[in-house]
Amino acid sequence: MSEGLGRAPDGEESTVTTTSLQLPGGTWALGDLTVTRFGYGAMQLAGPWVMGPPADHNGAIAVLREAVEQGITHIDTSASYGPRFTNDVIREALHPYADGVTVVTKIGGTRDAEGGWPTARTPDDLRRQVQDNLDSLGLDALDVVNLRLGDAEGPVEESIAESFEAMAELQQEGLIRHLGLSNSTRAQIREARAITPIVSVQNMYNLAVRHDDALIDELAADGIAYVPFFPLGGFTPLQSGALTSVSERLGTTPMSVALSWLLQRSPNILLIPGTKSVTHLRENIAGAGIALSATDLAELDRIGA
Ligand SMILES: NC(=O)c1ccc[n+]([C@@H]2O[C@H](COP(=O)([O-])OP(=O)(O)OC[C@H]3O[C@@H](n4cnc5c(N)ncnc54)[C@H](OP(=O)(O)O)[C@@H]3O)[C@@H](O)[C@H]2O)c1
Repeated sequence: MSEGLGRAPDGEESTVTTTSLQLPGGTWALGDLTVTRFGYGAMQLAGPWVMGPPADHNGAIAVLREAVEQGITHIDTSASYGPRFTNDVIREALHPYADGVTVVTKIGGTRDAEGGWPTARTPDDLRRQVQDNLDSLGLDALDVVNLRLGDAEGPVEESIAESFEAMAELQQEGLIRHLGLSNSTRAQIREARAITPIVSVQNMYNLAVRHDDALIDELAADGIAYVPFFPLGGFTPLQSGALTSVSERLGTTPMSVALSWLLQRSPNILLIPGTKSVTHLRENIAGAGIALSATDLAELDRIGA
């Protein structure tokens, strides 16, 4: 077991240490940062519908610490979760962050009193949200920041030049190490890359939602990570006869099959499954490395058809 030392501006060492335990999928480089392909999505640690504090504060702390102790080095979040409550609990559980732990956040939207997700993508909005993430996570610079586009229905075709140029400026100022896009179209990815390089695209994709199939392969060819959000189906986890039948045949859980399928789908896919449960986290890590046969894959293809 190797221990990671904390990285904090004041030189404090982390009390939560990473291990060299092999996680399914190995690692991937986000620019100069190496992350485990098996990551953790923190969104649902906030209260119901991602508003308010965690329902089980100690449980949220425990699951975050377990993730890092299991060797996970990729945590996905946003100051808009809660808002701020998810970042606050990440900071409480993990700060100072163990060496090698990468916290990926996103900006481009805010929250209203009803729990809606209004767009906020002017240069001033983005600067404010970067500061909000820095403050709540307790960092001097953010590792990776995705610009969240589109709306709740999905990506929306529109120019992102003004917003992405503002992100590039924040990066040049040293507040952000690497940039990415979320909920984006192919044209927006092209537009962003003409401004400055990106390391990741975070769009919705899972066994049942596969409209980014061609995009994933294109990004893989260019060494850009594809990070599916809602890898397990989101608020209503995936359910299907084919998933149940394949998982029963393999003697595992449907969630393990869904995650194994993603890892096997393309080497540039990084997982950020969410869970509030240490038991589910352990189950997902243990089960995500199953080799799916051609027969399994053909049966699972019925879900996305
Ligand atoms: N960019 C964007 O616009 C965007 C949008 C949405 C989400 N995201 C990111 O994507 C991440 C993942 O999304 P998500 O957490 O909403 O959805 P998800 O990972 O697809 O699914 C999470 C759900 O699956 C359940 N689950 C996990 N493991 C399980 C298991 N072994 N057995 C049974 N149920 C299990 C969880 O319940 P338990 O808690 O009971 O385990 C939770 O309800 C988020 O954390 C966020 O960082 C990004």
